[in-house]
Amino acid sequence: MHAQTLVAAWIASVLGLAAALDIDVSSQDSVCQAANVIQSGEWNYYTGTRYGGTVGMFDGYYWWSAGQSFAGLIDYYTFCDSGNDTLKQLIYDGVYHQRGENDDYMPSNQSMTEGNDDQGMWGITLMEAVERNFTNPPDHSWLSMAQAVFNTMSGRWDPDSCGGGLRWQIFSYNSGYDYKNSISSGCLFNVGARIARYLGPTSNYTKNYTDTCDKVWRWMEDVGFFQLNQSAIWDGAKIHHNCSLNETTFLRWSYTYGVYMAGAAYLYNLTNDQTWHSRSKQILDAGLGYFKDGNGTMQETTCAPRGWCNDDQRSFRALWSRSLHQTMVLIPEFEDDIRPYIERSARGAVSSCNGGTDGITCGTDWSKGSWDGVFGLGEQQSALEVVLAVLAGRVPDPLTANTGGVSESVPDAGITSNQTVNRNAIAVHTKDKAGAGFITALVSILLLGASAWMLF
Ligand SMILES: *[C@@H]1O[C@H](CO)[C@@H](O)[C@H](O)[C@H]1NC(C)=O
Ligand SMILES: *[C@@H]1O[C@H](CO)[C@@H](O)[C@H](O)[C@H]1NC(C)=O
Ligand SMILES: *[C@@H]1O[C@H](CO)[C@@H](O)[C@H](O)[C@H]1NC(C)=O
Ligand SMILES: *[C@@H]1O[C@H](CO)[C@@H](O)[C@H](O)[C@H]1NC(C)=O
Ligand SMILES: *[C@@H]1O[C@H](CO)[C@@H](O)[C@H](O)[C@H]1NC(C)=O
Ligand SMILES: *[C@@H]1O[C@H](CO)[C@@H](O)[C@H](O)[C@H]1NC(C)=O
Ligand SMILES: *[C@@H]1O[C@H](CO)[C@@H](O)[C@H](O)[C@H]1NC(C)=O
Ligand SMILES: *[C@@H]1O[C@H](CO)[C@@H](O)[C@H](O)[C@H]1NC(C)=O
Ligand SMILES: *[C@@H]1O[C@H](CO)[C@@H](O)[C@H](O)[C@H]1NC(C)=O
Ligand SMILES: *[C@@H]1O[C@H](CO)[C@@H](O)[C@H](O)[C@H]1NC(C)=O
Ligand SMILES: *[C@@H]1O[C@H](CO)[C@@H](O)[C@H](O)[C@H]1NC(C)=O
Repeated sequence: MHAQTLVAAWIASVLGLAAALDIDVSSQDSVCQAANVIQSGEWNYYTGTRYGGTVGMFDGYYWWSAGQSFAGLIDYYTFCDSGNDTLKQLIYDGVYHQRGENDDYMPSNQSMTEGNDDQGMWGITLMEAVERNFTNPPDHSWLSMAQAVFNTMSGRWDPDSCGGGLRWQIFSYNSGYDYKNSISSGCLFNVGARIARYLGPTSNYTKNYTDTCDKVWRWMEDVGFFQLNQSAIWDGAKIHHNCSLNETTFLRWSYTYGVYMAGAAYLYNLTNDQTWHSRSKQILDAGLGYFKDGNGTMQETTCAPRGWCNDDQRSFRALWSRSLHQTMVLIPEFEDDIRPYIERSARGAVSSCNGGTDGITCGTDWSKGSWDGVFGLGEQQSALEVVLAVLAGRVPDPLTANTGGVSESVPDAGITSNQTVNRNAIAVHTKDKAGAGFITALVSILLLGASAWMLF
């Protein structure tokens, strides 16, 4: 949106020209109508259907955000609009087109920005496609590509510092290569848990995934990023001093809680092991306590109250909401804790969606009762997914191979590709390095500019 349009929108909103939306959480039609409006706003950012645009990309947003968008859109399609072949084709094309040369979601032209968490987010989206029986590509099933993501990420597990874990970045020339973070290992954990549950307890390969999940969990405890007795999952730490506490970034993000909480719920659902039940509950309680505002409405508490959430952070509630949906379905006795929070937040989110020139743009503060002037892909993603989470229990549960899922398993997918074990192995040329530094600087300047502008 241009500044002029924003001003016009702001005036319209002050004058109350756009009526506030509301939903009846007991009615699937009402929820789906709201979801329909919100997802149509999400497509406004899509460049894949524009002249000169790239299929699968969203205007001005990082590549991982596109991946995250499609997960919510797959759910929207499945729950609310499954007869719409135009919508199905748009989603299918977007996800498939970005798979990269080796079908492992590492397209070479994203290597300047792609970290382990970015690849992992696409892996999470692939598992959404698998569990929702979204039409598979004939040559590469969604599951096989999720397995390629899992295998390439697993190959980068790095015991040389901090006792293990994944580095934030994949490529040594990207800034953040010297940092280990909870979300990168959390994506590996979540994707592994979901593949394991999908294959089921009798598959010969299930243990390959659950062993990795055990390893990730143990490492998160050992390195101190899990401090669940203080309700905390910290962001990460620099490797220089072995991820010691004095190098730790003490910030909490809702999507990190989401991937671990839901991953533990998948593992409990697979194994019936009480340990996973109580781990999932511990994170649930921690997250419900922290990610809410004074009205009990969902909030990205680390940045939102002071208004410094960037584009990425403004989308985190999308995955947190989807994870809550999964958790209450996989561990039904958690529903009583989760549902009131989801319903309150969904109604708040919908009431924020009366902004912009179109009168249906969503905002970021869900307690305000109307649009707060903030807009972006993250606002649409988060509002869409919290609304869809209301439908938990009324829409099909995530499928497994034993309950009608048809995505083909290829356990060694990605293992033979060149990008598997690439810790330090990918050649870095001086020219690329300079280029990467420049792009990082440029992106930072743009982000700073954008957030300063958001604050106005
Ligand atoms: C199907 O989805 C497309 C793309 O989102 C949309 O333009 C169209 O209006 C939808 N069709 C119906 C019948 O809802
Ligand atoms: C990146 O590569 C894909 C093919 O993997 C291509 O379609 C796309 O146009 C390229 N450029 C961008 C900006 O994504
Ligand atoms: C699982 O492993 C056993 C023993 O190695 C083998 O006999 C069986 O065929 C395998 N099953 C599948 C589905 O691969
Ligand atoms: C590095 O940290 C890991 C995890 O906390 C620990 O297991 C290991 O002993 C530490 N190594 C050194 C040399 O401090
Ligand atoms: C929390 O648990 C960690 C070990 O995981 C321990 O070192 C720390 O002292 C505990 N903190 C509190 C407040 O109990
Ligand atoms: C953290 O502790 C290590 C020693 O364990 C020390 O070398 C390092 O300088 C400390 N870092 C900071 C930021 O204080
Ligand atoms: C709680 O909701 C009311 C009514 O929507 C609003 O005026 C108030 O600012 C909210 N409080 C917080 C802490 O968000
Ligand atoms: C596992 O998940 C299913 C939903 O797919 C649910 O019906 C079932 O109760 C769950 N099992 C356990 C042990 O919680
Ligand atoms: C999944 O999709 C396939 C067709 O692609 C279909 O045969 C199968 O019945 C579907 N499963 C469920 C549970 O809907
Ligand atoms: C699965 O685990 C077994 C036993 O550790 C190992 O031999 C095999 O290579 C693994 N397979 C894959 C596809 O990771
Ligand atoms: C893998 O690497 C080899 C040698 O470095 C190269 O010839 C080949 O084209 C690469 N394959 C892919 C799929 O990138």
